[in-house]
Amino acid sequence: MPEKIFLCRDSELADGEMRQIVVAAKDAELAVYKSAGKVYVTDDLCTHGMVALTGGDLEGTTIYCPLHGGAFDICTGKALEKPCTVALKTYPVVVEGDDIFCLYGA
Ligand code: FES
Repeated sequence: MPEKIFLCRDSELADGEMRQIVVAAKDAELAVYKSAGKVYVTDDLCTHGMVALTGGDLEGTTIYCPLHGGAFDICTGKALEKPCTVALKTYPVVVEGDDIFCLYGA
């Protein structure tokens, strides 16, 4: 059964912005992005190496890794640019008023 986890306030995240959210209870680091007014959530760790994607560049719905320039689609998690070949985990997003949640374990 997925767990609804509060991540941050919608009003704190500008369009084109992203931020890392540490979910200590799950020992997880998630990335929350806002692109064209829509919110997306993925794992923050690049599948190619141990680096946070939120240190990279967000262009539309593509996140570029800061270490080797690999890229992922934040909507689907699909790896778009080498050296990334393994998809990034994505999470369903729930926005209630100003609160952003993800469904963890979905
Ligand atoms: Fe992200 Fe290599 S660690 S592309």
